[in-house]
Amino acid sequence: MKSRRVLVTGGAGFIGTHLVEELVSRGHRVRVLDALDPQVHGHSSPRRMAKEIEMIRGDVLDEDTLARALSGIEVVFHQAASVGVGQSMYEPAAYTRVNSLGTATLMEKIASPRSEVEKVVIASSMSLYGEGKYDCSECGPIHPSPRRRDDTARGHWELGCPQCGVDLKPLPTDERVPPSPTSIYAITKRCQEETVLVMGRSYGIPSVALRYFNVYSPAQSLSNPYRGVAAIFASRILNGVPPVLFEDGLQSRDFTHVSDIVQANLLAMERSDADYSVLNVGTGRRTTLLELTHGLLRKLRPEGDLQPQIAGSFREGDIRHCFADISQIQKTLGFEPRVSLEEGYDDLAEWARTQRPVDRTEQAFGELRSRGLVR
Ligand code: UD1
Repeated sequence: MKSRRVLVTGGAGFIGTHLVEELVSRGHRVRVLDALDPQVHGHSSPRRMAKEIEMIRGDVLDEDTLARALSGIEVVFHQAASVGVGQSMYEPAAYTRVNSLGTATLMEKIASPRSEVEKVVIASSMSLYGEGKYDCSECGPIHPSPRRRDDTARGHWELGCPQCGVDLKPLPTDERVPPSPTSIYAITKRCQEETVLVMGRSYGIPSVALRYFNVYSPAQSLSNPYRGVAAIFASRILNGVPPVLFEDGLQSRDFTHVSDIVQANLLAMERSDADYSVLNVGTGRRTTLLELTHGLLRKLRPEGDLQPQIAGSFREGDIRHCFADISQIQKTLGFEPRVSLEEGYDDLAEWARTQRPVDRTEQAFGELRSRGLVR
């Protein structure tokens, strides 16, 4: 495989770091553009990067920085984004600026005549589906609307069929399910994806949108309270405080190890079969939050003296169930998830034990509660 000149935006972030490492190990020349946001990286200096990586600290919204970052680049992995679903609901303008406007600014530069970019891979998200796909035993497959406020207010967590009222059963969600975002974050992810694909098609720049399902990884910022639930829970368990589960803990996701996300990105770069299309990246397996919690407790707190706390409250913007149908990415790119959640717990636990996470989730939940976004 020919060595490529690659830019990874958000390359110091929790997915970017792993992607960069793999690209370097395969002999590609890698440049990172990252704002090193203190919420993610803390105020201390960031982890040192391998010396062959060129690091530019800066913002995707800054045109001069972008011009410098893109100079001589053939492949762009756009990973830079603000990622908190809850936080996006009270900082909608900031999320729209960084995610949506940031992507438009990047694509404007990539489409300019001087650009040498031949491929763009955008980190999209399953969150743009809103609720996933479900089955009604009476009416067949359905993609339901978001849960109603009065249902979640009285603790009615599961979705009913809008036609006959029967409780719905989650099905794997495929790429044909139309986007129906339930949070500002998800709106920006949809916007990022569409911006890249529309600009890519119009200017003949092969582009691929990868819809990541819930990614977990070692090297995740355990102290960032707006991180994914696996990191939040690992940090709480290590601090000896119980993980707090919204709703009844039976909501489910498709927890995907970061190395499988990296695998999908590399395949999207190396092959042209997926150009101009969107693909789910997940494991195809559904896990409830409670199962995840018990898995983490087994590894990180084998003493058995810590129990999950079921909050019975609802975080605005949350969906109930979504897990991936991965047949499309298997067919077009030959992708196969390699790391099971059981192996993933080991990985996360081993790394988390070397960390001293500060648990800031109480503060973050307080923020959401004071705005009525956790009820
Ligand atoms: C996550 C990512 C998003 C990504 C998407 C798909 C984060 C913050 N969000 O969204 O960037 O695009 O996956 O890859 O990484 N929960 C609790 N207690 C907590 C925290 C969360 O019960 O302390 C629950 C939530 O209410 C939700 C579930 O855990 O039901 C998952 O939440 P979260 O990890 O934030 O992920 P998503 O919102 O699915």
